Amino acid sequence: MVKEISSLAINLDIKVIQKKVVNIRSINAATLIGKGTLINISNFIMINKIDLFICNHILTPNQQRNLENILKVKVIDRSGVIIEIFARRALSREGKLQVQLADLVYRKSRLVRAWTHLERQRGGTSFIGGPGELQIELDRRQIQEKIESIKKKLKSVSNRRFIQRKLRNKNKFKVFSIVGYTNAGKTLLFNKLTKKKQLTENKLFATLDTKISKIYLKKDVNIGLIDTVGFINNIPTQLIESFKATLEEVRDSDYLLNIVDINDINYKDKIAITKKILLETGVDRRKIDSMITIYNKIDLCPNKDFLNTKDRFYVSALTDDGINSLRDNLKKIVTA
Ligand code: GTP
Repeated sequence: MVKEISSLAINLDIKVIQKKVVNIRSINAATLIGKGTLINISNFIMINKIDLFICNHILTPNQQRNLENILKVKVIDRSGVIIEIFARRALSREGKLQVQLADLVYRKSRLVRAWTHLERQRGGTSFIGGPGELQIELDRRQIQEKIESIKKKLKSVSNRRFIQRKLRNKNKFKVFSIVGYTNAGKTLLFNKLTKKKQLTENKLFATLDTKISKIYLKKDVNIGLIDTVGFINNIPTQLIESFKATLEEVRDSDYLLNIVDINDINYKDKIAITKKILLETGVDRRKIDSMITIYNKIDLCPNKDFLNTKDRFYVSALTDDGINSLRDNLKKIVTA
């Protein structure tokens, strides 16, 4: 997972100078990491003139602030990094609103806790409101107002989508949703099946917006295919919350196709993470249990013995290997 956080950082154009796994025997409530390790990190930061410390863990607002005070550099945690990537990738109005909402909720929780902390320091008796505290209160109120206004805007987008869904139901075609871990090849597979040209890039979270397209399977048999945002371990709860509207499409689809990069040594964990996130976003457990797993990127596998296993789907969205047989199988599913 060190590889994953450094590739997330690289996706933010951050130059990674050092990656390190730190064993924590007991969690230090104030700084997460113990004193001795912190001294080493602090020295390394000073000697190498580093200006950012990324922690691949979720930090409490206090831990973040304490670490910044000790290390004298900006500190961001895993949630901060993921929200930042989402912010850079959002293209549509809805995507931008959703990320903005997640970012505000993330920041607000930090302010709220900072405020609670200050209140505790005051002992809750005599009120000596310094400018810092007033600023925090002001920021918190402004953030709350912005949150409310974004929620309203998102609701109107979601209503529009509901109407579109109703129209689709009238036309009675089955809908499949492509889901899976980021960078598994979902968009390329979507393009292959629908003959579309959506952007696919070796970039994490290249797709944030839901796209739907019709696939013609045979006379009178069409299905709808949805491509949506990729998942990642420890996705910030704020992002899950704000992307719930986007994922309504997934919730309402008839079948789920889970795209898995077969070359990824952690692919089993990633399947489990995908299922967990789907459950958290309100997808019906039965739909998750009956999800069809599609193993992608078989062109990169040196050994192809697994291709004889009939009950699984193996494809290469890049070379088209297995795509026709996947189409046939989708056809069988909808006409069964
Ligand atoms: P997110 O938007 O992050 O969720 O990614 P995604 O799952 O939609 O992946 P995308 O289709 O953008 O592909 C990610 C990278 O993997 C791109 O560089 C693709 O060209 C590459 N890729 C996708 N499928 C295959 C495949 O079958 N074989 C190989 N070799 N590369 C593939």
